[in-house]
Amino acid sequence: MRILIAFTSLSGNTRDVARQVRARCEVLGHQVDWIEAGVQTLADAGEPRHDLYLFGSWSDNAGRTPSEMKHLIAALVEAVGKPPQVAVFGTGETQWGEEYYCGAVRRIAAFFGSVHPRLEIEQMPHGECDALAIQRWTDHVLTCTQRMLDPGMPSETILHADPARFVA
Ligand SMILES: Cc1cc2nc3c(=O)[nH]c(=O)nc-3n(C[C@H](O)[C@H](O)[C@H](O)COP(=O)(O)O)c2cc1C
Repeated sequence: MRILIAFTSLSGNTRDVARQVRARCEVLGHQVDWIEAGVQTLADAGEPRHDLYLFGSWSDNAGRTPSEMKHLIAALVEAVGKPPQVAVFGTGETQWGEEYYCGAVRRIAAFFGSVHPRLEIEQMPHGECDALAIQRWTDHVLTCTQRMLDPGMPSETILHADPARFVA
C-alpha cells in the first residue's frame, strides 16, 4: 500500500512513535511518504492520494490539536476530501488531566470518523512494552485496511504488502 504518515512533534516524543510506525510499515513492504507538519508541507509527499493515512500528534493546552497539524489536515482535506482510511496515534501526559490526555488524538480520529483504534503513548515511547504496543497497533491497522481494500485477499498473506515475499 501507499501510506502517508503525517505528524507533528514539538520535543520529539511523537516523532519517535512515527519513526517506529514507519519502520514497521516498511519492513512489511509498504511505501511510506512522510510529512512533519510545520517543517514540510503536503506538496512534499507528492501525489496526495494514499491508500492509508496515519496521523500523529502531541496534544496542546486542554487536549487541543496543535495549529500546524490543523493546517496540514485542512490542506489534505482540500486536496482529497476526508479519506476513509485514517488511523491516529500520538503522545500526551496524564498530568494534564484524564479528560485532556491525548485530546488531539481523539479530536483528529473523531474528525475523520476513524474506524481504527487510537494509539496513545504517555510521553516518550520507551521499553519493550511501548515498542510492542506500536508494532501491534501498526499491524492491526495495516491488516484491517488491506482487508477493507481487498476483501478477497487470503488472510495468511494479508499483513504483507507483497504476498509473494511472504510465501517465499
Ligand atoms: C503547552 C502544553 C500543553 C499541553 N497540554 C496537554 C494536554 O492537554 N493533554 C496532554 O495529553 N498533553 C499535553 N501536553 C503534553 C504533550 O502533549 C506531551 O509532552 C507530548 O508527548 C509532547 O509530544 P512531542 O514531544 O512530540 O512534542 C502539553 C504540553 C505543552 C507544552
